[in-house]
Amino acid sequence: MYTINHTLVLLSLKKIKPFCLLSFFLSSKSKYHLVIFKKTVYYSYMKLHYNQLLLIMILGVLLSACGPKSDEQPAPPPFTFTTPDHFGNSFTIPEDNHMTEAGIDLGRHLFFDKRLSKNSQVSCATCHQPSKAFTDGLPVSVGIDGRTTTRNSMSLVNLLWVNRFFWDGRANSLEEQALQPIQDEREMGITLIELVAKIEAIPVYKEKFNAAFGSETVSPDRVAKALAQFQRSLISAGSRFDKIRRGEVQPTEREQRAIDLFFTHPEPSAPIPLRGGNCGDCHGSNLTTLNTFHNNGLDLVPSDLGVGAITGRDTDNGKMRAPSLRNIALTAPYMHDGRFKTLEEILDHYNEHIQPTANLDPLITAASNEIQGKSLALTTQEKKDIVFFLKMLTDSSFINNPAFQNPWPDQ
Ligand code: HEC
Ligand code: HEC
Repeated sequence: MYTINHTLVLLSLKKIKPFCLLSFFLSSKSKYHLVIFKKTVYYSYMKLHYNQLLLIMILGVLLSACGPKSDEQPAPPPFTFTTPDHFGNSFTIPEDNHMTEAGIDLGRHLFFDKRLSKNSQVSCATCHQPSKAFTDGLPVSVGIDGRTTTRNSMSLVNLLWVNRFFWDGRANSLEEQALQPIQDEREMGITLIELVAKIEAIPVYKEKFNAAFGSETVSPDRVAKALAQFQRSLISAGSRFDKIRRGEVQPTEREQRAIDLFFTHPEPSAPIPLRGGNCGDCHGSNLTTLNTFHNNGLDLVPSDLGVGAITGRDTDNGKMRAPSLRNIALTAPYMHDGRFKTLEEILDHYNEHIQPTANLDPLITAASNEIQGKSLALTTQEKKDIVFFLKMLTDSSFINNPAFQNPWPDQ
């Protein structure tokens, strides 16, 4: 486990404000080092010797003693945030929005609060329900006054490792993303001025903003930050697949076959031919996403241009993010427009119905289980095995986690 220990930093922030903040954390394996300096976490895989660490510490003290005075706000309560080892550490938490218990708690209250919408009937959770792995079960989402959006709600899972949000990647951070549905006419339909006024009128938020940010002031920036903190805490790593990856359980023969098929790129002409579903080329790593954008051949002429509408480039038309497939058995219907109702239909798509569209991804055209094959050419049994794999990604401990449920008794 990588444990990012904010405790030391936050305590020192309170006590020795103008001074340097430097502490270090050695993981139990002593292979990884975390040096925390001025609220920035630097980690290194190098084997640092103790005298090198000491040198860094002394340098830190000297540097920050000469530096400008810190204008930090009062420190929120200490908080230890742990991420699963097998997801790796390629994530960043913004400098100005470290996670705290109070921040996550405020974020959760905002996330489930319908009063954040114009007519007080739609919350983030209307379209992102915990029991459906934070989706809504509809082909395309429905917001205030029954207005429909054009896209399928996305599962909010392991977002800490995502760097471009939405199907088309148009938001670069969760902080940037959060205010979009609030203001969207079809989703929550409220202006930021109205939003602040509504929140200010709800007494319980005074204490919560104070605990999270050091004063009662409500601002769109703080709302976005708290929502981002809550969403970064939504980590799903308790599925059967995770247990196998962590070595806690042995896979059955079928499970191993299903995992292999999902991740293998087929090589029919290799000396020992490899059969595979090719899914891991885009839904790769233990996160089942590489955060990449592709045209996966849904339509000959895509009606939703996806990334192309953002960049204005024809070559991006029909490209969407290959999302995480975690808890995919709970998030039907599928794709950006909710066109597929079942996982079997998904496999039929990749195996038999890929459209030869202009920007079809080379990772799809180059993958067949037959030499010079025109399609993926999986057998019926192999398709079933991949569906079986997808079901191994269901994490009931995630959807039932008490920390992720609605905190409002009356809403
Ligand atoms: C009316 C339904 C609706 C509401 C309300 C709603 N969302 Fe969404 N959400 C969606 C849809 C649909 C998408 C995909 C939109 C797109 O790609 O253009 C989405 C996408 C997202 C994503 C991107 C996830 C990813 O993996 O890229 C995040 C994060 C998110 N919503 C958070 C929120 C938050 C926070 C709120 C409340 C402030 C909220 N949503 C309110 C429907 C909704
Ligand atoms: C070339 C990259 C690529 C490959 C290979 C690929 N996918 Fe996808 N996948 C995508 C993209 C892109 C999307 C989103 C497309 C959209 O909605 O327009 C997607 C969407 C999905 C979805 C729906 C996700 C959701 O939340 O609605 C599932 C399920 C899925 N893929 C499963 C698979 C399986 C199983 C395989 C292997 C047989 C596979 N994918 C191979 C790129 C790929």
